[in-house]
Amino acid sequence: MFQCFTSFYKLKTVASPGRGILAMDESNATCGKRLASIGLENTEANRQAYRTLLVTAPGLGQYISGAILFEETLYQSTTDGKKMGLVPLAGSNDESWCQGLDGLASRTAAYYQQGARFAKWRTVVSIPNGPSALAVREAAWGLARYAAIAQDNGLVPIVEPEILLDGDHGIDRTFEVAQKVWAEVFFYLAENNVMFEGILLKPSMVTPGAECKEKATPQQVAEYTLKLLHRRIPPAVPGIMFLSGGQSEVEATLNLNAMNQGPNPWHVSFSYARALQNTCLKTWGGRPENVKAAQDTLLTRAKANSLAQLGKYTG
Ligand code: 13P
Repeated sequence: MFQCFTSFYKLKTVASPGRGILAMDESNATCGKRLASIGLENTEANRQAYRTLLVTAPGLGQYISGAILFEETLYQSTTDGKKMGLVPLAGSNDESWCQGLDGLASRTAAYYQQGARFAKWRTVVSIPNGPSALAVREAAWGLARYAAIAQDNGLVPIVEPEILLDGDHGIDRTFEVAQKVWAEVFFYLAENNVMFEGILLKPSMVTPGAECKEKATPQQVAEYTLKLLHRRIPPAVPGIMFLSGGQSEVEATLNLNAMNQGPNPWHVSFSYARALQNTCLKTWGGRPENVKAAQDTLLTRAKANSLAQLGKYTG
């Protein structure tokens, strides 16, 4: 899914100590699911009210250096109705690919005009469905073409091949798939002459599948994930901004904290949606009188992850 990203600051500031990104780029359909969970209708007014609550939380900028927005938010209300994002990948094992490359150059130029300085392209890889060699290549190639086009139009591309948590596989299988995916992503990024100093990565952490009986400790997640990053990600890349992928709020913070116990060649931080927003959304419940309490819970999570980025989170 291609989404727009408005930076508050430049790249070095986004990847600065103690700060990460607030992912609030849920598509209207996903935002609808979140609103339904608190009994609200999926109207533009409700989406706007919730997104306003998030971005106006006082003091958030101390912990959050940028926000990823959905196209509707960037333009406030106008969307051109074009279908972009994940669709079935013909010829694969019931897998998906991310469409939207056609016309991307003119759209990225327009997003830049509208004030965006970053962009995000999310594609997914499913472990239970293979992943097939075809699906991995399409994911990697699509990300590389998007990154080249975004850079050509002045936007910093966030490169996100999400390896989905679904499945009962163990952590070694996730590691194996992640190695394959990132090898191909960097092969095609290089082929497309993408400047590594001008991208950010948004990976999944290396964890067991969500239905795996054996759980991993934060130390194990950190060990596997850092091993993957060291093997596959050049130090020229300035920032690794993890997604939370369905981990609980506390798990996502503990795992990030474990990864920041020693020096890393990249800024290792967060770009969470659910792990920053879950409690906030529930606390709000769609009631104006709860806005402040909801913003407080958002700040609590942002601060915890800020500490985790510094390796100083103690619970
Ligand atoms: P989660 O942190 O909820 O996985 O979302 C991050 C995101 O932007 C996925 O694209």
